[in-house]
Amino acid sequence: MKAHDFSGEELRPLQSIEQWEDDVLLRYPDAGEPAKAKEEFRNYENPGRDTVRDFYRLNHTYQTYEFVQEKRADFLRFNRKEMPVWGAMEFLNTLVDDSDPDIDLDQLQHLLQTAEAIRADGHPDWFVLTGFIHDMGKVLCLFGEAQWAVVGDTFPVGCAFSDRIVYPEFFALNPDTRDERYNTKYGIYSPNCGLDNVSMSWGHDEYLYQMTKNYLPEPALYMIRYHSFYSQHREHAYEHLMTNHDKEMFEWVKKFNPYDLYSKSPKPPVISELKPYYEDLIAKYLPATIRL
Ligand SMILES: [Fe+2]
Ligand SMILES: [Fe+2]
Repeated sequence: MKAHDFSGEELRPLQSIEQWEDDVLLRYPDAGEPAKAKEEFRNYENPGRDTVRDFYRLNHTYQTYEFVQEKRADFLRFNRKEMPVWGAMEFLNTLVDDSDPDIDLDQLQHLLQTAEAIRADGHPDWFVLTGFIHDMGKVLCLFGEAQWAVVGDTFPVGCAFSDRIVYPEFFALNPDTRDERYNTKYGIYSPNCGLDNVSMSWGHDEYLYQMTKNYLPEPALYMIRYHSFYSQHREHAYEHLMTNHDKEMFEWVKKFNPYDLYSKSPKPPVISELKPYYEDLIAKYLPATIRL
């Protein structure tokens, strides 16, 4: 059952879901790069900024504790499709980003570039595999989900929203802000209860984590589950909910983030050359088929 019926504009405020990541890049430019391009990097016909604002207005309005529980109850049954992991990647790749004026790369190429950058730095193979699959949860878009329930910064629900989350003013529109169960610092949680006990806003990160949690080493699972949790891994706004173990594991999340943000290059990876290596990696860690 759907609690809300969203209009087309509400479902798809962005021209493409890549617009969200482009905006993240503006917020967190590569420290190693000359300050070149902030403006040059994106030049949409209609400046993307308002679109992204709109996206966050919807995200912050509708990502309530209850909304998240509904999505979990629905999607974590994994009853939509079953396919090999490479097949799921090809399925994801049917979500083509045709609005990007700079670089005409699709989803699979972003994943391969992320993974290849990790591999080039000599990291363990499970880290490379994590880079390769980290956005596979974006298949949610292909199931008709609203963009703001697939991508966007993630944050805890069930407790007060931090003002270190991007566009915090829009949380005034979220009914949880007026619900005394949820609007205190700890809300339904207790000090340092551990992030595993915390519901995050719904999106591709949690979805993929739940899909892969029995198969990958713990650092990989943290990277997958929290890679869009910028208010913590960049802004440190939620340490009061974390255990010491969470904090240690977040070193991996931080290590992963630059590969996700800064590995985009116009030289497209040759998929056919790389496929055997990644098929072997998938076979080493993941089951023959995966349920979406
Ligand atoms: Fe992602
Ligand atoms: Fe990504």
